[in-house]
Amino acid sequence: MSRLQNKVAIVTGAASGIGRASAELFAAEGARVLAVDRPGADLTFEDPHIRTLAQDVAAAEAPQVIVEAALEAFGALDILFNNAGVANSTPAAQMTDEDWDRVISINLRAVFRLSRQAIPHLIQSAHGRIISTASVMALGTDYGLSAYCASKAGVLGLTRTLALELGKHGVTANAVLPGAILTGMTSSSFANPQAAEVWARKSVLRRLGQPIDVARVALFLASEDGGFVTGQAIAADGGLTLRI
Ligand SMILES: NC(=O)c1ccc[n+]([C@@H]2O[C@H](COP(=O)([O-])OP(=O)(O)OC[C@H]3O[C@@H](n4cnc5c(N)ncnc54)[C@H](O)[C@@H]3O)[C@@H](O)[C@H]2O)c1
Repeated sequence: MSRLQNKVAIVTGAASGIGRASAELFAAEGARVLAVDRPGADLTFEDPHIRTLAQDVAAAEAPQVIVEAALEAFGALDILFNNAGVANSTPAAQMTDEDWDRVISINLRAVFRLSRQAIPHLIQSAHGRIISTASVMALGTDYGLSAYCASKAGVLGLTRTLALELGKHGVTANAVLPGAILTGMTSSSFANPQAAEVWARKSVLRRLGQPIDVARVALFLASEDGGFVTGQAIAADGGLTLRI
């Protein structure tokens, strides 16, 4: 299958977890991919269709550097996958301004700024796509997640507005909402078998998600298959959010 043949994609947070699985899947489906992650992250890939860029997405210069790198490498841009993210677990009463700002700047502000930079190029594409990784925590919450939940709920509001504003240009904007996925972000929590079991059982499929489970949803949204889907938040959570 080559569902992304001749497409150019940027994937952020591509060194690990959902981003790595997505960069590899997009490339396997024919895309040329710019894989972005922060300096020091392991950005080695076997697929020659993946180029890499060490760049903090929250840095002032990041949007321009990232979009220019994609254009320089591949000459166009069709798909932006805003996936880089960080978590923070601190009760609101103890959360510092620095903690709050770090989470919001990476998980939400950088998504806005990179999308803004990409928009003129996505409009030129006959296949413009913005996909952003939110979380089931955009809909619910847990202790300590005030900044994280605010950032991910913000991604949903941003996504709906991008979809509205860009629809007339044929550009779609959607969010994917992972549930409990075994990645770099969660590996230390899920190293505790009891915690892994609790979260696996929250899923009606009775297992933790793997990065590829979310990457496949991103691929759907990036491909022609998702061409009439816009402004949506699609959970890849094994049914975790069915029970309240
Ligand atoms: N793992 C889960 O259960 C889960 C659930 C819901 C949502 N998510 C979201 O999925 C996305 C991907 O996370 P993951 O679970 O694959 O975790 P991960 O830690 O394996 O991957 C996140 C990647 O983002 C990169 N990153 C973080 N800050 C960055 C920055 N400032 N600039 C560039 N890159 C940066 C990290 O270096 C890392 O490679 C995140 O947005 C996360 O919030 C994850």
